[in-house]
Parts: sequence; C-alpha cells; structure tokens
Amino acid sequence: MKVPLNSAVRLISPRVTALITTVDKQDRVNAAPYSWIYPISYNPPLVGVGVGGKHKHTYINAKETGEFAINIVSEDFAQQAVNCEEQHEPGEDLLKKHGLRTTPPEKIKTPRVRESRAVLECRLKDIIEVEGSDHVILVGEVVAAESAGGLEEIRPLMHDSGKKFRSVGKEIVLNRRR
Ligand SMILES: Cc1cc2nc3c(=O)[nH]c(=O)nc-3n(C[C@H](O)[C@H](O)[C@H](O)COP(=O)(O)O)c2cc1C
Repeated sequence: MKVPLNSAVRLISPRVTALITTVDKQDRVNAAPYSWIYPISYNPPLVGVGVGGKHKHTYINAKETGEFAINIVSEDFAQQAVNCEEQHEPGEDLLKKHGLRTTPPEKIKTPRVRESRAVLECRLKDIIEVEGSDHVILVGEVVAAESAGGLEEIRPLMHDSGKKFRSVGKEIVLNRRR
C-alpha cells in the first residue's frame, strides 16, 4: 500500500510522549505534551524537540530562557498529560488544572513534573530551522537526567498518531555483529 508522502513520517512511530516544561520571563511554568522528540548525539548528549510553530509557548519560552525539561509521560497519568495540550493564555497553570504537580529541578531553573519517572533537563544549544519546513527543532544539551528505573518501571506512553497511543511491548534481545 502506497503511503501518502505527507503521512510518511507516521511510519516512524510510536514515539515516547513527554511533557515539555519551560518557564516564561516571569518564571511561570508552561507544560505541553510533545512526541517529536529525537536523539541527536551521545557525546555531548543532545536531543531534539520538533515544534510545529514559533507561536507555541514552548518555543517562545525555551528561546527566551535557554532551557527546557523533557518529562516522560507514564501510562498512569497519560490522560492528564494529554489534557495539557489545550489552548491557554501564557502563564496559565495547566499542570495544576489537570491534577499534576511540579518538583524542583537539579541543574536548570525550569521545574520538573513530579509525576514523571524519567526526566531530562536541557540547556538550549541550538535551534534548527530547515527552510520551508513546518517544524523547528529545539536542540537541547542534557545537563541532568534521572529515571526511576527501566521501561517496566516507567511504562512510557508511546504516541502513534492522532488520538492513538501504545504501551511498550515485550523485550526482544538479539545478537549483534559488533
Ligand atoms: C501526544 C501529543 C504529542 C504532541 N506532540 C507535539 C510535537 O511533537 N510537536 C508539536 O509542535 N506539537 C505537539 N503536540 C501538540 C502540542 O501539545 C500543542 O500544540 C500544545 O498546545 C503546545 O503547547 P505550548 O504552546 O504550550 O507549547 C502534541 C500533542 C499531543 C497530545
């Protein structure tokens, strides 16, 4: 079956869902769900977050403050995290509105989501803009990271597309040639 080219990126799914936290100029926390999150480099540890528009609070705040945190969403607070997608005024506390809380960061000033069991604190290293593209990529250098364990403990919410999500499946261990 041919896949329409504008849907082809959906073949690269599911991907981890995270609440990206940022703060604005007045230190008010913003949190929104993102799943275009990709590894860029081990050393230094760089990750990219694809943001579909420069109007998004996440982009504006990250550019302003030079930092953001990637708070991995677990299945047990999935709906609350996805609810944080709603349109809101700058500074409106969607985490609180949807029953989630913050906890202090280690290396940056942007708070973490307390319910997250895996967090990557990032300093903004670069912003990649590909001409004509509908997403900009926030490139973050991970300056602190913490996890409650492996995938069994975290049970990350995987985003397929649209309203469809997945659990992580069974582990498969294979021999590799190097
Ligand atoms: C599961 C999920 C994943 C999403 N992933 C992205 C993404 O990777 N990039 C993006 O620009 N928007 C994504 N969105 C939409 C944003 O959450 C939405 O535009 C939100 O309002 C942005 O908030 P902000 O302006 O506070 O950054 C996603 C939404 C959901 C529910």
